[in-house]
Amino acid sequence: MTPIKIESITKSFHGETAVDAVSLDLASGSFTALLGPSGCGKTTLLRLIAGFERPDAGRILFNERTISDARAVVPPEERNVGVVFQSYALWPHLSVAGNVAYPLKMRGVGSAEIERRVAEALATVELGGFDARDTADLSGGQRQRVALARCLVAEADVIVFDEPLANLDVHLRAAMLETFRQVHRATGRTIVYVTHDQAEALALADRVAVMDHGKLLQFSTPEMLYRAPATGMVARFIGRGGVISAEVTPNEPGRSRVICGQTSFFARSQGQPQGPADVLLRPEALRLVDAGSGGIAGLVRRSTYHGPAYEIEVAVAGGRLVVDAPHALALGSPVSVAVDDAWVVPDPKSS
Ligand SMILES: Nc1ncnc2c1ncn2[C@@H]1O[C@H](COP(=O)(O)OP(=O)(O)OP(=O)(O)O)[C@@H](O)[C@H]1O
Ligand SMILES: [Mg+2]
Repeated sequence: MTPIKIESITKSFHGETAVDAVSLDLASGSFTALLGPSGCGKTTLLRLIAGFERPDAGRILFNERTISDARAVVPPEERNVGVVFQSYALWPHLSVAGNVAYPLKMRGVGSAEIERRVAEALATVELGGFDARDTADLSGGQRQRVALARCLVAEADVIVFDEPLANLDVHLRAAMLETFRQVHRATGRTIVYVTHDQAEALALADRVAVMDHGKLLQFSTPEMLYRAPATGMVARFIGRGGVISAEVTPNEPGRSRVICGQTSFFARSQGQPQGPADVLLRPEALRLVDAGSGGIAGLVRRSTYHGPAYEIEVAVAGGRLVVDAPHALALGSPVSVAVDDAWVVPDPKSS
């Protein structure tokens, strides 16, 4: 399979930088999600990887071979990349089987083999028996699976997805997530998956690349992204929680003391930061305790029902926290929050 190396790739449109010196090493057979807010450069980076755009600077290597730099770009059809976009781009005049068979026909593969490989690919995406169906008569999710089968049959070493689930309802999304996972497990292709849905990214990918304003902010496992975000933007963008400004003093390597109002608590940290810092507190590591029993003092600012629990927003010294509670709390009531775990967001100036 194909490892992808992206070296300081930059792309501007009309003087505006869409992708800004991004470097990424994607292992062969890895599943990488590109995550970030609208306009941060995800699609542009994906199009650079697939060969639809030429970079202004930097280069991209497939299998240690340069396939894109500022001088030349190997076109998509010559770099063995399969592309699944949000709009499925199926041929409307061809049946399901006709669509999936298309890349093989173009290559002059024999009809018996085409039939066998198309049946295999349709079975992988759980569309066995749909061969003769008109693609116009399929649901959105089924069309997406036809597009996926077409990539599989073409034996693309690399498959790139651009928000493939954005049009689908919650149940279909869950079913498709499972299909993507199975296809990845079964085929070992190198997959790059663009989404702005963090739940999708965390659930699917081995590693997630978070982008903002064209820059790569963090590239790590979903768990590290959640537990130890590298910047304030990542801390706020991923998962629920509150980021407060506080004073931090060193305790031991990897652990700091955070002073918040009249109290203090321990937090995980990178090295031994000292001075003012942003501190991330996740709701599952916070508990409401009796006022005066040592937690962070605060006032209830919001109380919203979120499925099984109430999400309580608490104003404290330095910011706002989010805590889950089994019942609603009156706005303005004084509360105390005990901290089991927290993370000192690294200071960009000190790294
Ligand atoms: N062909 C183009 N011409 C001019 N500007 C472009 C072009 N393609 C992208 N851009 C600009 O580059 C920036 C990044 O766009 P991109 O499509 O990569 O964002 P994105 O992260 O995929 O956003 P979204 O989540 O909304 O799809 C945006 O400011 C966009 O307007
Ligand atoms: Mg996009």
